[in-house]
Amino acid sequence: MPSPIIAANFKTNHTRASTAEYVSRLDGWLAKNGYGMPVYLFPPATALDRFETESDIRIGAQNAYPTVKGSFTGEIGMEQLDEFGVETILVGHSERRHILGESQAFIARKFAWFMERGLEIFYCIGEPLEVREAGEKAVRHYLVEQLEGIDTSYEKLTLAYEPVWAIGTGKTATPELIEQTHAVIKAISDRPLLYGGSVKPANIAEVLAVPGCDGALIGTASWEISGMETMLEIVKS
Ligand code: 13P
Repeated sequence: MPSPIIAANFKTNHTRASTAEYVSRLDGWLAKNGYGMPVYLFPPATALDRFETESDIRIGAQNAYPTVKGSFTGEIGMEQLDEFGVETILVGHSERRHILGESQAFIARKFAWFMERGLEIFYCIGEPLEVREAGEKAVRHYLVEQLEGIDTSYEKLTLAYEPVWAIGTGKTATPELIEQTHAVIKAISDRPLLYGGSVKPANIAEVLAVPGCDGALIGTASWEISGMETMLEIVKS
């Protein structure tokens, strides 16, 4: 069995300086302890860089506009990603869907654009609380809609199931619920599938033991390097 895929989403946290410090410490930990898989890090755009590391740390962008360059104030495009050799991108994160108002049509266009350029894509889906409360059928319908227009067989795709009600709330989905929902998604795509939503040292082992869970996309608990090290240590053993 391959080691689980571990990815840290910094969201709007960390500076360029603190990201460099984090990467250096993570690299030291990985070089010393080993981890049979690349570890992914999504820092804010201002902290993207080419980091000289001994271990396989992949730096991804949390977002970019589907363009090489142009007039899209406030956005970055492929030219800015290429400057730092960034080959991984998050698409469809719930915060971009629900706070920044990205539509499924736009997300699908973004996905296709970065797929055409061969980027590795971490694609997020997940239902809000009211949909979860409406029952299993409503959840399935909602998730299928979030996959509309997405090539779910893309060989560089990793999926992440992140229920909105579990993100940043400290409320993790139960193993049963993760297993059940992952089975729904796995029936649509055979690409690796991560779980995200309040994953932390106290529950990471339980989450990753869920059948059909190939890794974790971690926010809050990954922001302190010590938390990340603790989780890697747990996952490794
Ligand atoms: P939290 O781990 O803070 O719940 O965030 C999860 C997430 O959104 C990762 O993309």
